[in-house]
Amino acid sequence: MSYPYQITSLAQYHEVYKQSIENPEKFWGDIAMHFRWKKHFDQVLDWNFTEPKIEWFKGGKMNITENCLDRWAETQPHTPAIVWESNDPEEHHRSISYKELLFKVNQFANVLKNNGAKKGDRICIYMPMVPELAIAVLACARIGAIHSVIFGGFSAQSIADRINDAECNIVVTADGGYRGNKEIPLKSVMDEALIQCRSVQKVIVLTRTRTPVSMLKGKEVWWEDEIKKVETAGNPFCEAEAMDAEDELFILYTSGSTGKPKGVVHSCAGYMVYTNYTFVNVFQYQPGDIHFCTADIGWITGHSYIVYGPLSAGATTLMFEGIPTWPDAGRFWDIVDKYKVNILYTAPTAIRSLMSFGLDYVKHKDLSSLKVLGSVGEPINEEAWNWFHEHIGKGNCPIVDTWWQTETGGIMISNLAGITPHKATYATLPLPGVCPLLVDEHGYPIPGGDASLAEMPKQTVSGNLCISHPWPSIIRTTYGDHERCRQTYFSTYQNMYFTGDGCLRDVEGNYRITGRVDDVLNVSGHRIGTAELENAINRHTGVVESAIVGYPHDIKGQGIYAYVIFSGVMDDKNLITQDINQTVARLIGAIAKPDKIQFVTGLPKTRSGKIMRRILRKIAEGDTENLGDISTLLDPGVVENIIRERL
Ligand code: PRX
Repeated sequence: MSYPYQITSLAQYHEVYKQSIENPEKFWGDIAMHFRWKKHFDQVLDWNFTEPKIEWFKGGKMNITENCLDRWAETQPHTPAIVWESNDPEEHHRSISYKELLFKVNQFANVLKNNGAKKGDRICIYMPMVPELAIAVLACARIGAIHSVIFGGFSAQSIADRINDAECNIVVTADGGYRGNKEIPLKSVMDEALIQCRSVQKVIVLTRTRTPVSMLKGKEVWWEDEIKKVETAGNPFCEAEAMDAEDELFILYTSGSTGKPKGVVHSCAGYMVYTNYTFVNVFQYQPGDIHFCTADIGWITGHSYIVYGPLSAGATTLMFEGIPTWPDAGRFWDIVDKYKVNILYTAPTAIRSLMSFGLDYVKHKDLSSLKVLGSVGEPINEEAWNWFHEHIGKGNCPIVDTWWQTETGGIMISNLAGITPHKATYATLPLPGVCPLLVDEHGYPIPGGDASLAEMPKQTVSGNLCISHPWPSIIRTTYGDHERCRQTYFSTYQNMYFTGDGCLRDVEGNYRITGRVDDVLNVSGHRIGTAELENAINRHTGVVESAIVGYPHDIKGQGIYAYVIFSGVMDDKNLITQDINQTVARLIGAIAKPDKIQFVTGLPKTRSGKIMRRILRKIAEGDTENLGDISTLLDPGVVENIIRERL
C-alpha cells in the first residue's frame, strides 16, 4: 500500500499547491483516479457560489464503503481496521481486521434492509463509542441510506429536533453507554425523544450496558437478534449500492448563529476523496501506523478522521470509548503505550485539562512510538502547544494544528507533519486545492491575505476568513433548507464561502485562526450557538430574558457567561441557578450548561432594542474600564448595576 499523492517534501508541497490552484480540476481529477468507481465521472467540477450549486465528479458512480472496506479486504485482509479500547481498562480490547469489518458491515447492512431501510432513507444513530457505531455508520453508507449521527451527550429534546428535521425512519441506538464512572441511559433518553417523533418506524438496540430497557413489540428490536436472523439466512454479503457521486452521504447537525441547529449535508465522492487526501497528507500516515483520534464519532472530527479518512486509506484507526481523565489523567498515555500509537490527534481542551494534573501521569509511560501529534477544534494557546510538544512529543514530533469545520468536511489549513514547518498557535498553510483569503467587513480583500496569490503581507494582517474556490468536501446544503445554506455561508461576501472565523496572516503566509466572529461560542471545542442557548434558558419558568457571551476559560478555551433577568420568586439564587442549568441540560445537553449565571435587572440595549453584546462580553472578561461609548444605550444605568454584581 502506498499513496502516490502523498507529499514528501516542502518543495513538493509548494509545487503541488501551485498546480492545485492553477488547475484544480486536473488536480482533483487525478487524485480521484486512485479510488474505486463503479462508473467513471464525466466532469470533475460544476459550480457556482450564488445558488450555491457544487457538484464534484459528476456522472461518477461509487460507494464509499467499497473504498473503505472491499478494496482493503482484498489486498490486506488481516490488517487491523479498527482497534477498540473500552472505557474500562480491564475489559478486553477488540481488534477488527478489514476482512472482519467488511463482513460485519455487510451483516448489519442486511439487518437494516430487513428492517425496511432503503437508499435515501435517513437513519439516526445515537450510540456509545463502540465498534458497532462505526459499523452502523458504514452499513448505512453501504445501502445508500443517509446517516445522521447524534452525539451521546445530547438531550432527548435535541434528538427529537434532529430526527424530526431529517424525518428519520430508523433509529440505531444502544441500551446504554459508559463514560468514565458514569453510565448513560441512551435508550431511555431515546424513548423520551421518540414520543415526539412520528417518522420513526424501527429502533434497533445494541446491548452494551445491559441496563433494563423497555422494548416495544414490532417497533423495537435487539441488534444481536437481528444479526442472528441474518446469520441463519446464510449469505451475509450485501452488494454496495451504486451511489451518484453527489448523492447525500450524511447529515451532521451543528450550531449556528440562529436558534436552530442546522443539518450540514455532505455528499459521497467529494467527501471521500478529500478526507482521504487530507488524512494521508496532514498526518503523513505510513502503512502499519496506529492512528488515534480521540474525538467522538458524534462530531465531524470522528466522522472524517476516525472512520472515513483512515479507513479509505487502509489505515488502522483506534477508537476509544472513555474519557481522558478516568480512571486517572494518564489514560491517553496508557493507551499510547499499550498500542504503540504513532499518531495522536486530540483537542486543546483535553491537552489543557491533562496539563493541569501535572507530569506524574506522563512519567514512566512509554510514548516513544509517537511520530505525529495533532490538534483540532479550537485555537491552541502557546502554553498548551509547548507542553504537548515537550512532554508528549519529547520535542521530536511535529504538531499539526488543523483548522477546519463541520461544513468543510476535512482539514483546510494545517502544516503537513514533518513536511511543512509547524509554528505554535498557527494552523499555518492551506492544503492543496484550498484558497483562503482574508476580507474586511465590507468584503474587500485584505492585501496579502490571499494564499492563491503570490503576494505576501508586509506585516501581519487580519480579517475575516473566506474561501474563494470550492474543494471536494464543501457543504452541499443544509438539510431541507437550501436557502439557509446560501444565507449563512455564501451571502455575507459575494462569491466566497464565509467561515465565520477571524484570522491573521503573518509575513511568511502562515494563517492563525483567532476565533469566531459570529454569535457562536467554542466551548471545549464544541460549537454552541448563543441564540440556541438563550432560547433554552428563556423557556425556564420565571426567566424573562437572557444574554449569553463567551469569556476566556483556562481549560475550556471559552466559558459560557449568562446574564439572566428573572421575574420569579428569587428565594435561593443557588437553586435557581441549578434549575436553569437543568433546563439547559434538558433542552440541549449538559455540554451547553453555563459556567456562570448572573442575575440582572436589565440588559444593555440600544434604542432599537438590540442587546449590546460587546459590553456584556467586556464585563464577562473583567475588562470593565474599556466599555467604549455607552451613551447610546436606552438605559446606561444598567451597565453599572451589572458591573457591580459581576461574578
Ligand atoms: O472556530 C473554528 C474552530 O472550530 C470551528 C468549527 O467547529 P466544528 O464545526 O465543531 O468543527 C470542529 C472540528 C473540525 C471553526 O469555525 N476551530 C476548528 N479547528 C481550529 C479552530 N480554531 C482554531 N484552530 C483550529 N485548529
